[in-house]
Amino acid sequence: MNYHLSKENLLNKTSDCLCLPLFLNKESADGTLCSQGEKVDEQLSHSISTLIKKFKISGETGKTTLLPLETDKTQRVLLLGLGEVDKLSKTSFRKAAKALANTLKESNIEALDLDLSDITLTDSKHSDTETVSEIVLAIEDSNYAFDQFKSKKATTPSLTTVTFHAGNNEIEASIKKAQALSAGMSFTKDLGNMPGNICTPIYLAEQSEELAKTCDKLSVKVLDEEELEKLGMGAFVSVAKGSIESGKLVVLEYKGADDVNEAPHILVGKGITFDTGGISLKPGPLMDEMKYDMCGAASVLGTLKAVTQLDAKINLVCLLACAENMPAGHASKPGDIVTSMSGITIEILNTDAEGRLVLCDTLSYAEQFKPASVIDIATLTGACIVALGDAASAVMGNNDDVVNALLAAGQEANDKAWQLPLWDEYQEQIDSPFADIQNIGGKGAGSITAACFLSRFTKEYPWAHLDIAGTAWVSGGKNKGATGRPVPLLLNYLLNKAS
Ligand code: BES
Ligand code: MN
Ligand code: ZN
Repeated sequence: MNYHLSKENLLNKTSDCLCLPLFLNKESADGTLCSQGEKVDEQLSHSISTLIKKFKISGETGKTTLLPLETDKTQRVLLLGLGEVDKLSKTSFRKAAKALANTLKESNIEALDLDLSDITLTDSKHSDTETVSEIVLAIEDSNYAFDQFKSKKATTPSLTTVTFHAGNNEIEASIKKAQALSAGMSFTKDLGNMPGNICTPIYLAEQSEELAKTCDKLSVKVLDEEELEKLGMGAFVSVAKGSIESGKLVVLEYKGADDVNEAPHILVGKGITFDTGGISLKPGPLMDEMKYDMCGAASVLGTLKAVTQLDAKINLVCLLACAENMPAGHASKPGDIVTSMSGITIEILNTDAEGRLVLCDTLSYAEQFKPASVIDIATLTGACIVALGDAASAVMGNNDDVVNALLAAGQEANDKAWQLPLWDEYQEQIDSPFADIQNIGGKGAGSITAACFLSRFTKEYPWAHLDIAGTAWVSGGKNKGATGRPVPLLLNYLLNKAS
């Protein structure tokens, strides 16, 4: 898809299809055009407003209406309902952008012209760049298909060119960023949707190696199970050893800052390529969705892809903790005690709480980089879905600046996160009678006790944890699929740190 910025006035343009915002009117059933739209309408002898009245086109959020016109210049107009003009939030604009993208997909429109300069979002300081970015993201998302295992492939869209008409030069950068973000999210979705028999720890390592080939500033190293053993990663290995697939720790280093020695930011991703629960076996229904248990790692790779595409001026280390959690003769058993790389001993009471076991050693490994901040991203607990559903990822950490920067980045990207308290009161739930700690807490606050566990391994640097169990994929039914979240949040977090 080609996206352009044009400073040419809409009124002088010959257009295959012109998209005009339409606002909902409190007093009348007919929607209201924005001022640009009114000028176009005037030029076309009020043919648009006549049709709006005739068919009572309302301007309800997300309602799209395609009007063929009898003119040479503008072949057709696509009215995009945006709701009431003074209630247009980021979320309602996103809903409208999605509807627009779906309409375009089902139409034979090849080139679209848009002027969004009249639109103001109630909850944004940069309405003009943000609306453009939302349109790009919505179109790219609607064209996303995971059809490599289907005999019948998705049809290629007719739309090839989208032209934004605006005076603001920043829009070009906004298009570029949205395209990089879309490419990153699409990579994350592909990795997440890939079945567990193909997307194994080795596969994630190979995908990382492929990504590294595309960028001079990116290098990669893969540690296999034997090396993890040598490093004393008893917790990580206790999970990996239950599978015939070898566990892998993928280490990616991106040096984009002017000073290559600047302290890096670190992203740590949970990469459980399938989570059966191990000997603490999960129930059958929906178990297929545990192929998504590597979405933390996938979102780290997607973010990294976007960072390389934007050539961001930042030093970034990505650590992917990859293993398959299986029941087997050589798998860990409830009650087993292992020693982590940090020396902390862990009683494994539930082999299904495996994410924290691979993450804790990876978090210890992160210390050697003397990081400016460490964020781990994990589909860590079912309890997180109970607490927040799919609206927000949970965030907890040991440093207010990092937590607040993540919350703000999520707001900015409309890929929201919400903080849960990591109070000392919860810590005693992971005391063990036989080891230093145990890998599960009691009945309540499951997402928090999981974070308590991780907090024992992150004392040396500013750290926050994102639980993405509810946001990384859409569960069940025909809509099942990876969402690409929280790549938008992570990318904003890093770009805000970049020089
Ligand atoms: N990967 C799961 C968490 C999960 C479950 C995410 C369902 C999304 C949907 C994780 O490894 C797990 O099994 N967690 C357990 C922890 C429990 C044993 C303390 C859980 O949430 O049940
Ligand atoms: Mn599990
Ligand atoms: Zn898991």
